[in-house]
Amino acid sequence: MYFNRTKVFAAIAAAFFAGNIAAAEAAKLSFTKDVAPILNARCAACHRPGQMAPMSLLSYDEVRPWVKAIRENVSARKMPPWHATAHAGSFMNDRSLSEAELSTVLARIDQGAPRGNPSDLPPAPVFPEGKWKLGEPDFVITLPEVEIPADGPDVFQKIPGTVALPEDQWVSAVEILPGAPKVVHHVIVFQIKGFDVDPAGGWLGAWAAGTEPMVFPKGTGRLMQKGANVIGDMHWHPSGEAIKDQTRIGLHFAKTADIEKELVNLWVLNQGFKIPAGDPNHEVRAKHTFAQDSFILGFAPHMHYRGKDFTYTAHYPDGREELLLKVENYDFNWQTDYILNERLPMPKGTTVECVAHFDNSANNPANPDPTRDTTFGEETKDEMMIGFLDYVVAEGVRPKSRVELYNDAAQTWLAAHPGEIYGVKSPKSDGFVPLYVPKTGEGRIMLGLGGSAAELSVTDIVWTGNDFTSRIPTEQIGDIRMTGTLDPAAGTITVTLSHEKIPNLVLSGGHWKGSVQSAS
Ligand code: HEC
Repeated sequence: MYFNRTKVFAAIAAAFFAGNIAAAEAAKLSFTKDVAPILNARCAACHRPGQMAPMSLLSYDEVRPWVKAIRENVSARKMPPWHATAHAGSFMNDRSLSEAELSTVLARIDQGAPRGNPSDLPPAPVFPEGKWKLGEPDFVITLPEVEIPADGPDVFQKIPGTVALPEDQWVSAVEILPGAPKVVHHVIVFQIKGFDVDPAGGWLGAWAAGTEPMVFPKGTGRLMQKGANVIGDMHWHPSGEAIKDQTRIGLHFAKTADIEKELVNLWVLNQGFKIPAGDPNHEVRAKHTFAQDSFILGFAPHMHYRGKDFTYTAHYPDGREELLLKVENYDFNWQTDYILNERLPMPKGTTVECVAHFDNSANNPANPDPTRDTTFGEETKDEMMIGFLDYVVAEGVRPKSRVELYNDAAQTWLAAHPGEIYGVKSPKSDGFVPLYVPKTGEGRIMLGLGGSAAELSVTDIVWTGNDFTSRIPTEQIGDIRMTGTLDPAAGTITVTLSHEKIPNLVLSGGHWKGSVQSAS
């Protein structure tokens, strides 16, 4: 081995000049000219007077005392807060600094952060404080006023707001206007029927420090149902002074003729988990299979204080697998919506699988109680595992109804097992549920879980004469037990579904006849 001197020299020279050029470029950087525009664009949405971030970063004098903390926070990518670590596609609302922005900020700080020429200072960003950015909404929901104490723990409440429209109405944009942004950490607005928290009601929109109003993509809208109301899921952070907050939600309506697609909010959820006390890395999974060709427009992973990481993966019908979004350092305090620039196609039969990990150990400083086994629940001391996602269907305006999906499944099963498919109906269901309980092997049933129809296996079927017992394993709520009785003479079947979370549900019917809804 020998060294080619010329080459080595050339390499050293190149490195030297490259370094020098970078240093020369850096020397020309100035706060006023190069750094202020970055801070205005990337930090001022939260770091300005009256907002919840701890300091304003609008002027050189405000920034100067913080440069060490800024260096630490931006180089560790803690600021701006943005937690997507891997993903397919890119996000419209990505707050993170680009590599170029990051190196400009760091280089300027490392040079001692001099001010630069004051005449280079860009105009200060303008924020229409307390005013609607999208203009006057068509409908304003004013939530009840809540007093937030000067200090103490964070405050969490679900507060109702009245809408009660006389007809269904398409919503094309939602703007949430916190009354006291200094203390409002986040707001999630759900549509509810009556005042029951009904998952099927769906997510209307969310706000957290620094978010823009939600203008849904052209031609899409969320459907606000006739008579429905909303719940504001609120998180406040005391600010050192007692303060009253009254948050308003502005809805912008669209004409039916202008809506091509419903923007559907899907909950890929698991409600059946138990995270053992002290477990530092408990895994929980949930999945959803698209029954129609669809496109995903965005994601919002949701857990509480024990949440560590959250991943969405697509398993395509052709066997391909694709990571859609990974949030490695999940932080409950930032309920981030990840809004895609380009929608992701989900062909019919694609399963989106969500995998979450929870830290229920004492090493998790946010853990409210490491000594308690933790299950699904509304309270912040409980846990949640929901992969919210927004999608639109490829064909038609709205996804097929549950009844249509049940019919599709029944037709497929009938083709494979003629005369063996039953249609059972509960007094409160909106159609016949297809059911297959063979004498040997696995059966099938369709059920509505988490607001969408799911095709599930019926396992451990044991027939004793005309009676059977069985089990329906679900990702969402664990096992459902099913028992039933067949009356061969009448051609009817009656089944009872039971689960600790749902009261016994009795369904009855007979052989599935022909198409549409009719079973006798
Ligand atoms: C979306 C809102 C938001 C944006 C955008 C944002 N911050 Fe922050 N920042 C916060 C909040 C809130 C805190 C308080 C700590 C927390 O809750 O994480 C904070 C804390 C900080 C801290 C730590 C202060 C301390 O007490 O040590 C620094 C430094 C900081 N931000 C710098 C920045 C810089 C620089 C930018 C832009 C490049 C930025 N932040 C963008 C909301 C934001």
